Amino acid sequence: MPDVRIVNVTKRFGKLVAVDNVSLHIHDMEYFALLGPSGCGKTTLLRLIAGLIQPDEGEIYIGDKLVNDIPPEDRDVGFVFQTFALFPHMNAWNNVTYGPRVKGYDMKKAETIGHEVLEMVKLHERLEAFPNELSGGMMQRIALARALAAGAKLLLLDEALGQLDAKVRNELRYEIRRMAKDLGLTSIHVTHDQSEAMAISDRIAVMRKGTIVQVGTPQELYMAPKNIFVAHFIGGANFLEGYISNTNGTEATVELRGDLRIRILNNSAKKGERVVLAIRPEALNVGKESKNEKNSISGSIERVTFEGTNIRYEIRLENQDLVITVRPSMIGEWLKVGEKVTTTFPPEKSRMFKYPEKGLKEEITVE
Ligand SMILES: Nc1ncnc2c1ncn2[C@@H]1O[C@H](COP(=O)(O)OP(=O)(O)OP(=O)(O)O)[C@@H](O)[C@H]1O
Ligand SMILES: [Mg+2]
Repeated sequence: MPDVRIVNVTKRFGKLVAVDNVSLHIHDMEYFALLGPSGCGKTTLLRLIAGLIQPDEGEIYIGDKLVNDIPPEDRDVGFVFQTFALFPHMNAWNNVTYGPRVKGYDMKKAETIGHEVLEMVKLHERLEAFPNELSGGMMQRIALARALAAGAKLLLLDEALGQLDAKVRNELRYEIRRMAKDLGLTSIHVTHDQSEAMAISDRIAVMRKGTIVQVGTPQELYMAPKNIFVAHFIGGANFLEGYISNTNGTEATVELRGDLRIRILNNSAKKGERVVLAIRPEALNVGKESKNEKNSISGSIERVTFEGTNIRYEIRLENQDLVITVRPSMIGEWLKVGEKVTTTFPPEKSRMFKYPEKGLKEEITVE
């Protein structure tokens, strides 16, 4: 099935630049996610690929074909929206076979396709049901079946699971991926839900304010975020501000406020540089015993939240910085609010970023 190449594409709405000089290559048969906060331009980019709107600048290729001037119906794309966009006056069967019939296929071929795709989405028994007789999850399955029946080679999903409850959403996302993979489709899945994108994508493009800030596999984005925004948006992190007070080959010392020092592994840090350290909540150790070893900072538990699998602690460090850690709730004794603790920062687990020009807060604001 086709790959998709987006080359220096810009789309403006009046003065607003919704998609700002974006270049992206989505591979053949890839399950690709566009992930980012509300208003960052995900839907606009998807609509540009579908041909529902035209770019102001740049080129879009589907396969080897430049499609800028090709209408949506000739792009072989299937679009599944967040809102249930089935024809309300048609039953499931007629919704699904609409595409093949409009294409002028003979009745027999349209029926064969209809049966195939309804089997695939496991709704064959409901082929006579009208949309208002189906659950949200079923309607999205029919919408998917309709896109597949119409011969989509490129599947575009815009928050297609957004209106479903958590359980249905979780099940359906794996099913959609499996079907797309079985059929060898190329898929672009728009979502603002990082756990959804992480769970099902081969690669993810993280978007912010009309631009793409990083493209990578879920593991790459989680393990090696290129900037503070990605570290924050994918997985979340504690951000501590400080200065490099010393460097020593592969290590550097960061001075936090309150005269606290922690060591990190970094060979590019420059003495005096203002930095932000990002440490994943799950990488931060916490315990009752007071430790005098390096990279341990004392503090007290300010809030405890039981989350099921994990227990989440907010810890006020002695320098008044607040950090968060999560621990498996089934292991060990729980800590209590007010308890004095020691927090240990493993040097190899913290990532250093240059202090952002516009300040830390601006970098982690997701709007
Ligand atoms: N037809 C339009 N006319 C004017 N502005 C638009 C239009 N479509 C989108 N925009 C603006 O372009 C920007 C990007 O919108 P877009 O819908 O692509 O965001 P999104 O990432 O899909 O957000 P969400 O997660 O909320 O769906 C927003 O500021 C939006 O208001
Ligand atoms: Mg959108």
